[in-house]
Amino acid sequence: MKARKFLILVLVMALLGSLVAGCGARSEQEADNSAESTEDNSGDATAKTEPIVVKFSHVVAENTPKGQAAIMFEEKAEEYTDGKVDIQVFPNSQLYNDDDVLAAIQQNSVQMAAPATSKVSKLFPEWTIFDFPFALPSIEKVQQAMESEEIGGKLFNMLKDKQMLGLAMWDNGFKQMTLDDRPLYMPKDFEGKSFRVMSSKVLEAQFDALNANPTPMAFSEVYSALEQGVIDGQENTLSNIYSKKFHEVQEYMTISNHGYIGYAVITNSEFWEGLPSDVREGVEKALDETTQWVRDNGERLNQEALDNIKADNTLTEIHELTPDEKKAWMEATNPVYEQFEEEVGSDLINAIKALR
Ligand code: LMR
Repeated sequence: MKARKFLILVLVMALLGSLVAGCGARSEQEADNSAESTEDNSGDATAKTEPIVVKFSHVVAENTPKGQAAIMFEEKAEEYTDGKVDIQVFPNSQLYNDDDVLAAIQQNSVQMAAPATSKVSKLFPEWTIFDFPFALPSIEKVQQAMESEEIGGKLFNMLKDKQMLGLAMWDNGFKQMTLDDRPLYMPKDFEGKSFRVMSSKVLEAQFDALNANPTPMAFSEVYSALEQGVIDGQENTLSNIYSKKFHEVQEYMTISNHGYIGYAVITNSEFWEGLPSDVREGVEKALDETTQWVRDNGERLNQEALDNIKADNTLTEIHELTPDEKKAWMEATNPVYEQFEEEVGSDLINAIKALR
């Protein structure tokens, strides 16, 4: 009797053991398969039922022009390709900072990104052209610049040298200044104050020209740097200021529209060329429609952000630059153009100056 019980116990344990081992084997297999489908997205999708994974990395919040555009692009691209692509959007620097994302694109660790043009200047100094103070007076002028061969054409062409392809330009809008303890009316008000800048030499030169101290820093670090007083102020668009709560840790804002932030929507060129043509067409259609949507809605989203900032009532003052003050800011920062003639190229500088 005892021997029979023992035998049954041994059998039950053996059965359980094999079930557990089977489960383990299956989940390892599944993990391998999903890793394969994520890594091997270089092309031949027709042979697979798995969608092609497209990771899209960016740094801003979802309630901004770029955040909204990325979501719209995801929905449209999946629809227009009948689900043959799986666009995975990672906002808020979840995957990469803009400073790392260009390397990630080159290595195809991420397939799409939309860094601010200023940040592309780390690889190509010419891309800093949009950073010149008061270079672009309106969104219409930005579009004119991007559509021209001598600016947009030239900038997009050079990306190919580094395994990248420019697919579109998405607007955010114009930058405003904020500071912790005094209003910014005239150039002298900048003196001695430290301001966060994106990684762009022209932006550093802009603050140098105002006798301030530029501090390059990743976007994801700006809020805590302002909160802890590591920096005194910063420049950004209203939608970025509002969505990252910079207005809660600053006292003064000047509506200056002194510079522009827009994005280069970039992909890895080998990845892009490896896409089946029907998939590429669907993705292109989604991009075109999204680009048009950002053009039509960027300004509205920034205006809404301003209304929200006002409603929050956390700032001591919001000042709008007067024509005389604007003239003084322009005069103070004008030498920056000459300073970069060699590095950026006088052709580009003259072309952007002609739009002023
Ligand atoms: C910034 O770093 O301030 C901006 O580039 C953020 C963004 O992408 O709009």
